[in-house]
Amino acid sequence: MQRFTTIESLRDALAAARKQDKTIGFVPTMGALHDGHLELMRRAKRENNLLVVSIFVNPIQFNNKEDLAKYPRILEADSQLLETVGCDFLFAPSEQEMYPEPVNTTYDFGELVQVMEAAFRPGHFNGVAIVVRKLFEIVEADTAYFGEKDFQQLAVIQRLVSMLQLKVKIIPCAIVREPDGLAMSSRNMRLSPTERAIAPKIYQILQKAVKLRNVLSPTEMKNWTRQQLEMIPEFSIDYVEIADDTHLQPFQHWNEPKGAILFVALFLGQVRLIDNMRIF
Ligand code: PAJ
Repeated sequence: MQRFTTIESLRDALAAARKQDKTIGFVPTMGALHDGHLELMRRAKRENNLLVVSIFVNPIQFNNKEDLAKYPRILEADSQLLETVGCDFLFAPSEQEMYPEPVNTTYDFGELVQVMEAAFRPGHFNGVAIVVRKLFEIVEADTAYFGEKDFQQLAVIQRLVSMLQLKVKIIPCAIVREPDGLAMSSRNMRLSPTERAIAPKIYQILQKAVKLRNVLSPTEMKNWTRQQLEMIPEFSIDYVEIADDTHLQPFQHWNEPKGAILFVALFLGQVRLIDNMRIF
């Protein structure tokens, strides 16, 4: 694996690869890698000749200073994991390299940024869009891989690509979970052992909820899920929502001709966790 910290050196290496007609698969991350990230990479490696991974903790997508300060940064351990999935190029730029000057582009993602994560994390998706667009322009990948764990982010990226008519193809990848059902996340390592033991309840409750689709209306399922989560005193809920899988708008009736997904965001101690599950 070759490591790059400057845009120019990465671009030169990518240009050489492209001359050899290599297809480029790209997985952007913020590091603290786990098997959820690695699954995206394994797939990218299978489907392309060259795997490019970026690790950059993007300050402008954090609306909470403490969350940014506490975000795990373990580049050496990450590099070793990247070797195991056959990563060819790692791009790990500094903040100065990515943002030599402040960026203040504002994107309008319309209805996608009026709900859920966008409502609780103002400016978050704008910061994500700025960095992802910049990374897309640097890497010029054929294909980029994003996890459904961050379903709303995936929808925003797909909107960005269609809005700007970018050439990159976006591949959504299923949520990877721990054996006990907890969705893998870089933030899980900040949970205390007691919190870690409680965290799988989110998955258990989501699973039970989606099984009730024949007996509960969308509103009833949402309320039921919230009540179940509220019974666990360590959880502090940001939102429970049922939304369609394209525009992410609240679901009213099951007979709407769209896919429906149950979304949850909550704090467990100081750690904010999100999860979702498809209802149909
Ligand atoms: P990060 O949280 O590091 O996630 C990188 C990619 O891994 C995202 O596409 C995310 O959805 C995916 N991912 C994380 N946990 C997953 C899991 N358990 N199962 C499947 N996929 C999972 O998302 C970001 O970084 C940033 O916002 C980024 C897109 C890199 C822009 O800064």
